[in-house]
Amino acid sequence: MFQKGLKGVVAVHTKISLVDGENGVLRYHGTNVKELVLDYSFEQVAYFLLNDKLPTEVELQQFNEKLKEGRYLPLHVQKVMDALPKTISIMDAMRTAISTFSTAEFLQMQIMEQAIVLTGALPVVISRHYRKQLGLPIIEANDNFSHTENYLWMLNGTIPTSTQVEALETYLKLTMEHGLNASTFAARVTVSTESDLPAAVTSAIGTMKGPLHGGAPSEVLNLLEEIKDESRIQLVIEEKIKNGEKVMGFGHRIYKTEDPRSILLREACLRLQGSDPWLDLATKAEKEIIGLLDKYKPGRKLYTNVEFYAAAIMRSIDMPAALFTPTFSVARIVGWSAHVIEQVDDQAIFRPQSLYVGKIK
Ligand code: ACO
Repeated sequence: MFQKGLKGVVAVHTKISLVDGENGVLRYHGTNVKELVLDYSFEQVAYFLLNDKLPTEVELQQFNEKLKEGRYLPLHVQKVMDALPKTISIMDAMRTAISTFSTAEFLQMQIMEQAIVLTGALPVVISRHYRKQLGLPIIEANDNFSHTENYLWMLNGTIPTSTQVEALETYLKLTMEHGLNASTFAARVTVSTESDLPAAVTSAIGTMKGPLHGGAPSEVLNLLEEIKDESRIQLVIEEKIKNGEKVMGFGHRIYKTEDPRSILLREACLRLQGSDPWLDLATKAEKEIIGLLDKYKPGRKLYTNVEFYAAAIMRSIDMPAALFTPTFSVARIVGWSAHVIEQVDDQAIFRPQSLYVGKIK
């Protein structure tokens, strides 16, 4: 049996997330993400994904301490990063930095501890290389800040507003995990050979880098920039449909109803409305675009996907496009780690077959 791209093939049993495309529901460990996103912090949702339970106060404190430990990069990682040229992309710098974590000392830690340290380290790695590319000095982590606040602090060197933190944190919690996507699969394949967590995360970052996986929000941004004003929505969209172009941020391979992450990000945008013209434009554009898609592509059930509001939120917090995929990874490293731990617990090496279709000489 051959299925190109393994489309539709079930490759693992998982208890981490359920992506229910028919009903438009995403569940982490059986719980609707809606409940988790509205009521809990990044740290609590990450703990939940990794442990299948919410933390007690003491467990959360220990988790936070470990996460903050990750903010202090080992000296050799700093040196490797210092040696990287500015022209290397942030995703490549992340891949290189994470690959150098696998010292004997690091690997002696429990895999769960390794996962928390790497999750804490990734924003530091990103901000360090981002600022180097801009020729700006490194901003040290601030232990008084939460994971999300500290990420924005280290990127910009200014204390983020609560509005910015809420917007980014909603995005991070919603994109932490999404089944057996390409990067998560890469992480599981790597560790299925009894390799280690830094190697699995390195594979995942290399896979996430490709535009078909991690790069879509910047395309949506181009669309919003092209629209500029609500009076131009119809003109821009009709032009795209006439030219046979796809409207970015609409439609999804799995969700044939509204993408639940999009609904929650829209709600976050509505809560923040008035704070940024990009959020206002996005919420106004959505309704009109869905109407136009229904008129010109009837019956295709085209709704916004997660990328549409992700782009609006990123734009509203002044996150440059070069940081979109790295920021997606700041969230997804939690899902990668949860899958690596699940793979280790239910070990079987991935070794599918290939069918030789060449000549016999
Ligand atoms: N704009 C206009 N028309 C669309 C769109 C769109 N965004 N999406 C689908 N259609 C139309 C197609 O033109 C096609 O019409 P036809 O029947 O006249 O040929 C029909 O709907 C079915 O399209 P497919 O591409 O076959 O739908 P599929 O479900 O396979 O594709 C996909 C899903 C790839 C996401 C598609 O909707 C798309 O390209 N969207 C725009 C890009 C985008 O937003 N990508 C991010 C996805 S979310 C993520 O990756 C995390």
